[in-house]
Amino acid sequence: MRLPAVMLRRLEIGAFGGPEQIRLVEEARLPQPGEGEVRIRVEASSLVFTDMLIRRNLYPVLKLRLPLTPGYDFVGRIEALGSGVSRWRVGDRVADLTQIGGNATHLVRTAASLVAVPQGVNAIQAEPLILSYMTAWQALFREAKAQPGDQVLIYGASGAVGLAALDLCRAFGLPAVGVASARREPVVEGLGATFVAYDTADPAGPLDRLTRDLGGFKVILDAARGETLSSVMARLAPGGRLVALGFSAPFRTAYKAGGEQPGLLARLRFGYDFLRIKWLSHRPNAAVSFYDIASCRRQHPQWFQEDLSSLFNLLEAGRITPRIQRVFGLGDAVEAHRLIEAGQVEGRLVLDPGLPIGGDPYVSPGDNAAKTTLHQQRHPG
Ligand SMILES: NC(=O)c1ccc[n+]([C@@H]2O[C@H](COP(=O)([O-])OP(=O)(O)OC[C@H]3O[C@@H](n4cnc5c(N)ncnc54)[C@H](OP(=O)(O)O)[C@@H]3O)[C@@H](O)[C@H]2O)c1
Repeated sequence: MRLPAVMLRRLEIGAFGGPEQIRLVEEARLPQPGEGEVRIRVEASSLVFTDMLIRRNLYPVLKLRLPLTPGYDFVGRIEALGSGVSRWRVGDRVADLTQIGGNATHLVRTAASLVAVPQGVNAIQAEPLILSYMTAWQALFREAKAQPGDQVLIYGASGAVGLAALDLCRAFGLPAVGVASARREPVVEGLGATFVAYDTADPAGPLDRLTRDLGGFKVILDAARGETLSSVMARLAPGGRLVALGFSAPFRTAYKAGGEQPGLLARLRFGYDFLRIKWLSHRPNAAVSFYDIASCRRQHPQWFQEDLSSLFNLLEAGRITPRIQRVFGLGDAVEAHRLIEAGQVEGRLVLDPGLPIGGDPYVSPGDNAAKTTLHQQRHPG
């Protein structure tokens, strides 16, 4: 009996725009690794807010050419080696930050850029560590140089990066305050943080009181850019550091108002905000910086290797627990992007390209154990 041929399946964006621009592409030929490259069978890859920015061509830090395959990172197993590769063996588990290209069954990467994934960790659980946890980790410990006991304030606390940051604060003894919409109180408090809602009649009131009572925050991570920059900076303790890293608030506001994306004025405002943060960050002894995972990796490739390995070890030791709301197959990615745009995700969505086209059972928030079991049945070891 002949085995069915292995196909390359991947998502493709042919035109910038809404989730409907995503389609599933099948190719009969697998990509072949060249010199210094390996082919990887992907076990898990990301479905995150940043993919939505890329799909809408609102991601200026990357020069985008269409058509493109989205997917900011992946965990997978090496299945073919190109010439000259000696560091890896077929079957090794590896991870990498791709920015684009991760949402596929197979991909080819430069062998030198890969990070080893311990055999004992589950791919679905490990995948959020690459973009979401790494961003939180490097913003907290590399940029802000957080120390045990430092008071931390996180805007965007219920999102992929925000929950990762809260999980790390809990694991490293950093008392945290998390800002998100009122419905997110249980998940933020569940990680031991103090919760503040941004969508109440007087959102600044409780935050002003906390800032006064605590004498300001030693570390602020801002993944939302909802409050004015000067209001956020006024919440810093003497010697504190503000790390700006994202702009989810204008998108949430536009969506709630029935728009697909922020209008021109809102985009000009956050463009100006971005330039101001960059300008402030270049001043001597700056209290403000903008963190960007890809440029940090370019400047400090060794940090990326070390930090991701540390995160995998923390996961293996059970010290951190990524919150995965749901796992999608390639055939359901449009729905995943719709949920992200609508702000319906608490923590992370993950893509499992090995799932049969046609869907996967819904896994409710917090039901990671069930999902993990399901995934382990499909990817033993
Ligand atoms: N710089 C980097 O290297 C890097 C890396 C990863 C991500 N990012 C960026 O960081 C941002 C967040 O990413 P993500 O993946 O965590 O997104 P996400 O999962 O969509 O989370 C967004 C979060 O922002 C919150 N939020 C929305 N409006 C807010 C406001 N006015 N005040 C406070 N919080 C507000 C949301 O709360 P509700 O859901 O409760 O409304 C949610 O917790 C995005 O802009 C992304 O592109 C940057």
